[in-house]
Amino acid sequence: MNYLESLAKLGVGGAHPGGLKLTKEIVAQQSIDHTTKLLDIGCGTGQTAAFIANQYACSVTAMDIHPIMVEKAKQRFLDGEVPISVVQGNIEQMCWSEQFDIVLSESVLAFTNISKSLTSIRNVLKCNGCFLAVEIMVDESVGESDKHAIASFYGFRHLLTETEWREKLSQSSFKQINIEQPSLNPLPITIDEAQDFHFSNSEIDEALDILHQHQALTKRYKEKLPYAVFRCTK
Ligand SMILES: C[S@@+](CC[C@H](N)C(=O)[O-])C[C@H]1O[C@@H](n2cnc3c(N)ncnc32)[C@H](O)[C@@H]1O
Repeated sequence: MNYLESLAKLGVGGAHPGGLKLTKEIVAQQSIDHTTKLLDIGCGTGQTAAFIANQYACSVTAMDIHPIMVEKAKQRFLDGEVPISVVQGNIEQMCWSEQFDIVLSESVLAFTNISKSLTSIRNVLKCNGCFLAVEIMVDESVGESDKHAIASFYGFRHLLTETEWREKLSQSSFKQINIEQPSLNPLPITIDEAQDFHFSNSEIDEALDILHQHQALTKRYKEKLPYAVFRCTK
């Protein structure tokens, strides 16, 4: 079982740095009303999508590649009676065309081919649409072998510094690129505090063990693996 599978098995909601608290802060800075069309890519179990649909009564689409995540997101929306369409698919190959005002990704792009994902995100955004993301970065001082160990534990395809993120966004023709490091508690998920779990029935011990390893790793690299909020426009 890998890190993403453990999140899926445990049904972790808010599996991104800063959690729902940060999500609430960053979406509050956007202008969102009932006419807004928002796409949450790599939605996981749908915590963020449900919050946004409930809070702003806007049109929300949620997508994820993992079948268990999709199933748990669907169940969440059904239980909460939230009208969200859920799609199973790959961010790198989205086939909507210029549909969304906002695309949101929270701790997702590092697991994908970032250049392909950014091109795909740009294609599904309306003209002047906004790409909003919370993503992990690596400090310039981290050596190659540590980077390799971190990337292989999480299954990251890329582990980029702030400069490299900026380059990728700009190479993909995004404009008004703003990258900001929030001052919230940097630990992504603390198992003892987290409330939002939707356990599957099997392999829970193995999944919890992986989550404990994740906590140890984030503690060890606390200052070296910052995260940032990215905002840019098409
Ligand atoms: C760390 S989790 C974050 C989930 C959610 N955004 C949250 O904050 O709780 C990363 C999510 O990205 C999804 N994912 C990874 N690669 C993907 C891809 N190529 N296309 C769509 N989803 C992907 C995973 O299945 C997983 O649900």
